[in-house]
Amino acid sequence: MRLDKLLAQEKISRKTMKQALLKKEILVDGQVAISLAQNVDTGLQELIFQDRKIQGYEHIYLMLHKPNGVVTASKDKDLPTVMDLLPQPLQSNQLYAIGRLDRDTTGLLLLTDNGPLGFQLLHPQYHVDKTYQVEVNGPLSFDHIQQFKDGIVFLDGTVCKPAKLKILSVSSTESRASITISEGKFHQVKKMFLSVGVKVTALKRVQFGDFTLDSELVEGQYRSLNQEELQIIKNYLTKSG
Ligand code: URA
Repeated sequence: MRLDKLLAQEKISRKTMKQALLKKEILVDGQVAISLAQNVDTGLQELIFQDRKIQGYEHIYLMLHKPNGVVTASKDKDLPTVMDLLPQPLQSNQLYAIGRLDRDTTGLLLLTDNGPLGFQLLHPQYHVDKTYQVEVNGPLSFDHIQQFKDGIVFLDGTVCKPAKLKILSVSSTESRASITISEGKFHQVKKMFLSVGVKVTALKRVQFGDFTLDSELVEGQYRSLNQEELQIIKNYLTKSG
Protein backbone atom coordinates (compact mmCIF):
# COMPACT_ATOMS: atom_id res chain seq x y z
CA MET A 1 0.00 0.00 0.00
CA ARG A 2 1.15 3.57 -0.62
CA LEU A 3 2.82 5.05 2.43
CA ASP A 4 0.42 8.03 2.59
CA LYS A 5 -2.64 5.71 2.46
CA LEU A 6 -1.18 3.54 5.19
CA LEU A 7 -0.48 6.52 7.44
CA ALA A 8 -3.91 7.99 6.71
CA GLN A 9 -5.43 4.77 8.07
CA GLU A 10 -3.62 5.58 11.32
CA LYS A 11 -5.42 8.96 11.30
CA ILE A 12 -2.19 10.85 10.63
CA SER A 13 -2.87 14.09 8.75
CA ARG A 14 -1.24 14.80 5.41
CA LYS A 15 0.49 17.85 6.89
CA THR A 16 2.02 15.78 9.70
CA MET A 17 3.15 13.13 7.20
CA LYS A 18 4.86 15.71 5.00
CA GLN A 19 6.64 17.28 7.97
CA ALA A 20 7.77 13.88 9.23
CA LEU A 21 9.06 12.98 5.77
CA LEU A 22 11.10 16.17 5.57
CA LYS A 23 12.47 15.61 9.07
CA LYS A 24 13.41 12.03 8.09
CA GLU A 25 11.14 10.66 10.82
CA ILE A 26 9.65 7.91 8.67
CA LEU A 27 11.73 4.75 8.42
CA VAL A 28 11.04 1.68 6.27
CA ASP A 29 13.19 -1.24 7.38
CA GLY A 30 15.60 1.25 8.93
CA GLN A 31 15.89 3.36 5.76
CA VAL A 32 14.58 6.93 5.60
CA ALA A 33 11.43 7.02 3.46
CA ILE A 34 11.93 9.01 0.29
CA SER A 35 8.36 9.64 -0.78
CA LEU A 36 4.83 9.37 0.55
CA ALA A 37 3.95 7.62 -2.71
CA GLN A 38 6.32 4.70 -2.15
CA ASN A 39 4.84 1.29 -1.56
CA VAL A 40 5.21 -0.25 1.86
CA ASP A 41 3.94 -3.59 3.09
CA THR A 42 3.89 -3.76 6.87
CA GLY A 43 3.56 -7.55 6.65
CA LEU A 44 7.02 -7.61 5.10
CA GLN A 45 8.64 -4.38 6.19
CA GLU A 46 9.00 -2.55 9.49
CA LEU A 47 7.47 0.92 9.37
CA ILE A 48 8.44 3.44 12.03
CA PHE A 49 6.68 6.79 12.18
CA GLN A 50 8.15 9.28 14.66
CA ASP A 51 9.61 6.45 16.78
CA ARG A 52 6.31 4.53 16.75
CA LYS A 53 5.95 1.17 15.03
CA ILE A 54 3.01 1.13 12.64
CA GLN A 55 1.31 -2.28 12.55
CA GLY A 56 -0.76 -1.65 9.43
CA TYR A 57 -2.42 -4.29 7.34
CA GLU A 58 -0.79 -7.56 6.25
CA HIS A 59 -1.36 -8.34 2.61
CA ILE A 60 -2.28 -11.78 1.33
CA TYR A 61 0.11 -13.55 -1.06
CA LEU A 62 -0.79 -16.98 -2.43
CA MET A 63 0.74 -19.40 -4.91
CA LEU A 64 -1.80 -21.40 -6.89
CA HIS A 65 -1.22 -24.34 -9.22
CA LYS A 66 -3.81 -23.42 -11.82
CA PRO A 67 -5.56 -26.40 -13.38
CA ASN A 68 -6.81 -26.67 -16.95
CA GLY A 69 -10.37 -25.41 -17.54
CA VAL A 70 -10.57 -22.50 -15.10
CA VAL A 71 -10.37 -18.88 -16.14
CA THR A 72 -8.08 -16.26 -14.63
CA ALA A 73 -10.81 -13.87 -13.51
CA SER A 74 -12.66 -12.96 -10.35
CA LYS A 75 -16.05 -13.84 -11.80
CA ASP A 76 -17.37 -15.51 -14.92
CA LYS A 77 -20.99 -16.13 -15.78
CA ASP A 78 -20.37 -19.56 -17.35
CA LEU A 79 -17.00 -20.92 -16.30
CA PRO A 80 -15.23 -21.73 -13.02
CA THR A 81 -12.59 -19.17 -12.06
CA VAL A 82 -9.34 -19.39 -10.13
CA MET A 83 -11.11 -17.64 -7.22
CA ASP A 84 -13.58 -20.55 -7.01
CA LEU A 85 -10.62 -22.72 -5.98
CA LEU A 86 -10.18 -20.72 -2.77
CA PRO A 87 -12.21 -21.10 0.43
CA GLN A 88 -14.97 -18.56 1.03
CA PRO A 89 -13.12 -16.41 3.61
CA LEU A 90 -10.31 -15.81 1.11
CA GLN A 91 -12.73 -15.16 -1.72
CA SER A 92 -14.20 -12.25 0.18
CA ASN A 93 -10.84 -10.45 0.03
CA GLN A 94 -10.22 -8.46 -3.10
CA LEU A 95 -7.71 -10.89 -4.53
CA TYR A 96 -6.54 -10.87 -8.08
CA ALA A 97 -4.02 -12.78 -10.18
CA ILE A 98 -0.62 -11.37 -11.10
CA GLY A 99 -0.49 -12.18 -14.81
CA ARG A 100 -3.22 -13.99 -16.65
CA LEU A 101 -3.04 -17.60 -17.84
CA ASP A 102 -5.30 -18.91 -20.60
CA ARG A 103 -8.12 -21.23 -19.63
CA ASP A 104 -6.20 -24.27 -20.91
CA THR A 105 -2.82 -23.19 -19.45
CA THR A 106 -1.80 -24.74 -16.14
CA GLY A 107 0.84 -23.83 -13.58
CA LEU A 108 2.09 -21.03 -11.42
CA LEU A 109 -0.23 -18.17 -10.61
CA LEU A 110 0.35 -15.66 -7.83
CA LEU A 111 -2.69 -14.16 -6.15
CA THR A 112 -2.62 -11.10 -3.94
CA ASP A 113 -4.63 -8.20 -2.59
CA ASN A 114 -1.57 -5.95 -3.03
CA GLY A 115 -2.53 -4.09 -6.19
CA PRO A 116 0.63 -2.03 -6.70
CA LEU A 117 2.80 -5.15 -6.51
CA GLY A 118 0.90 -6.77 -9.36
CA PHE A 119 1.19 -3.61 -11.39
CA GLN A 120 4.94 -3.54 -10.84
CA LEU A 121 5.57 -7.17 -11.69
CA LEU A 122 3.54 -6.91 -14.87
CA HIS A 123 4.93 -3.56 -15.95
CA PRO A 124 7.14 -3.97 -19.07
CA GLN A 125 9.82 -1.86 -17.34
CA TYR A 126 10.59 -4.71 -14.92
CA HIS A 127 11.08 -7.43 -17.58
CA VAL A 128 9.99 -10.22 -15.27
CA ASP A 129 10.97 -13.52 -16.92
CA LYS A 130 8.35 -16.23 -17.21
CA THR A 131 9.23 -19.83 -18.03
CA TYR A 132 6.79 -22.33 -19.50
CA GLN A 133 6.94 -26.03 -20.27
CA VAL A 134 5.47 -26.54 -23.71
CA GLU A 135 4.32 -29.44 -25.87
CA VAL A 136 3.80 -28.84 -29.58
CA ASN A 137 2.41 -30.99 -32.41
CA GLY A 138 5.50 -31.18 -34.60
CA PRO A 139 9.28 -31.21 -34.70
CA LEU A 140 11.45 -28.44 -33.19
CA SER A 141 15.00 -27.79 -34.39
CA PHE A 142 18.08 -25.67 -33.67
CA ASP A 143 16.78 -23.17 -36.26
CA HIS A 144 13.84 -22.54 -33.95
CA ILE A 145 16.18 -21.79 -31.06
CA GLN A 146 17.85 -19.11 -33.19
CA GLN A 147 14.50 -17.70 -34.37
CA PHE A 148 13.30 -17.34 -30.78
CA LYS A 149 16.62 -15.74 -29.85
CA ASP A 150 16.38 -13.24 -32.71
CA GLY A 151 12.80 -12.26 -31.78
CA ILE A 152 9.76 -13.99 -33.21
CA VAL A 153 7.59 -11.90 -35.53
CA PHE A 154 3.86 -12.68 -35.37
CA LEU A 155 1.88 -13.03 -38.58
CA ASP A 156 0.45 -9.51 -37.99
CA GLY A 157 3.99 -8.04 -37.86
CA THR A 158 4.26 -7.71 -34.03
CA VAL A 159 7.90 -8.23 -32.99
CA CYS A 160 8.63 -10.13 -29.77
CA LYS A 161 11.66 -9.61 -27.54
CA PRO A 162 14.31 -12.36 -27.67
CA ALA A 163 13.15 -15.55 -25.95
CA LYS A 164 15.08 -18.57 -24.77
CA LEU A 165 13.96 -21.90 -26.20
CA LYS A 166 15.34 -25.16 -24.79
CA ILE A 167 14.36 -28.29 -26.68
CA LEU A 168 13.75 -31.28 -24.41
CA SER A 169 12.52 -33.96 -26.84
CA VAL A 170 11.65 -34.11 -30.53
CA SER A 171 9.59 -36.34 -32.81
CA SER A 172 7.75 -35.70 -36.07
CA THR A 173 4.40 -35.43 -34.26
CA GLU A 174 5.28 -34.13 -30.79
CA SER A 175 8.09 -32.11 -29.20
CA ARG A 176 8.64 -30.84 -25.68
CA ALA A 177 10.51 -27.68 -24.76
CA SER A 178 10.85 -24.95 -22.20
CA ILE A 179 10.57 -21.32 -23.19
CA THR A 180 11.44 -18.18 -21.24
CA ILE A 181 9.90 -14.86 -22.25
CA SER A 182 10.15 -11.45 -20.66
CA GLU A 183 6.92 -9.96 -21.97
CA GLY A 184 3.25 -10.67 -21.46
CA LYS A 185 1.53 -10.28 -24.81
CA PHE A 186 -1.91 -11.87 -25.19
CA HIS A 187 -1.52 -15.62 -26.00
CA GLN A 188 2.16 -14.89 -26.51
CA VAL A 189 3.65 -18.37 -26.27
CA LYS A 190 0.97 -20.00 -28.42
CA LYS A 191 1.35 -17.31 -31.08
CA MET A 192 5.14 -17.57 -31.05
CA PHE A 193 5.02 -21.27 -31.81
CA LEU A 194 2.31 -20.78 -34.45
CA SER A 195 4.63 -18.27 -36.12
CA VAL A 196 7.21 -21.03 -36.58
CA GLY A 197 4.62 -23.50 -37.85
CA VAL A 198 3.66 -25.66 -34.87
CA LYS A 199 0.70 -25.62 -32.49
CA VAL A 200 0.96 -25.67 -28.68
CA THR A 201 -0.91 -28.68 -27.31
CA ALA A 202 -0.01 -28.20 -23.62
CA LEU A 203 1.32 -25.19 -21.73
CA LYS A 204 2.38 -24.95 -18.09
CA ARG A 205 4.00 -21.98 -16.35
CA VAL A 206 6.73 -23.13 -13.98
CA GLN A 207 8.53 -19.88 -13.18
CA PHE A 208 7.47 -16.26 -12.71
CA GLY A 209 10.34 -13.91 -11.94
CA ASP A 210 12.12 -15.42 -8.94
CA PHE A 211 9.15 -17.63 -8.04
CA THR A 212 9.12 -21.34 -8.93
CA LEU A 213 6.01 -23.48 -8.98
CA ASP A 214 6.02 -25.64 -5.84
CA SER A 215 6.20 -29.24 -7.09
CA GLU A 216 4.23 -30.36 -4.01
CA LEU A 217 1.18 -28.36 -5.07
CA VAL A 218 -1.10 -30.49 -7.19
CA GLU A 219 -3.32 -28.83 -9.79
CA GLY A 220 -6.03 -26.81 -8.08
CA GLN A 221 -4.11 -26.45 -4.79
CA TYR A 222 -2.79 -23.22 -3.34
CA ARG A 223 -0.69 -22.16 -0.36
CA SER A 224 0.51 -18.95 1.26
CA LEU A 225 3.95 -17.77 0.23
CA ASN A 226 6.67 -18.94 2.61
CA GLN A 227 9.26 -16.70 4.29
CA GLU A 228 11.76 -17.06 1.43
CA GLU A 229 9.13 -16.11 -1.13
CA LEU A 230 7.95 -13.17 0.97
CA GLN A 231 11.56 -12.01 0.91
CA ILE A 232 11.40 -12.06 -2.91
CA ILE A 233 8.30 -9.83 -2.77
CA LYS A 234 10.15 -7.56 -0.38
CA ASN A 235 13.05 -7.34 -2.84
CA TYR A 236 10.70 -6.37 -5.66
CA LEU A 237 9.09 -3.70 -3.45
CA THR A 238 12.50 -2.34 -2.46
CA LYS A 239 13.74 -2.30 -6.08
CA SER A 240 10.87 -0.09 -7.13
CA GLY A 241 11.18 2.24 -4.14
N1 URA B 1 1.22 -17.54 -23.40
C1 URA B 1 0.08 -18.09 -23.87
O1 URA B 1 -0.10 -18.26 -25.08
N2 URA B 1 -0.85 -18.47 -22.98
C2 URA B 1 -0.72 -18.33 -21.65
O2 URA B 1 -1.61 -18.71 -20.89
C3 URA B 1 0.47 -17.76 -21.16
C4 URA B 1 1.42 -17.36 -22.07
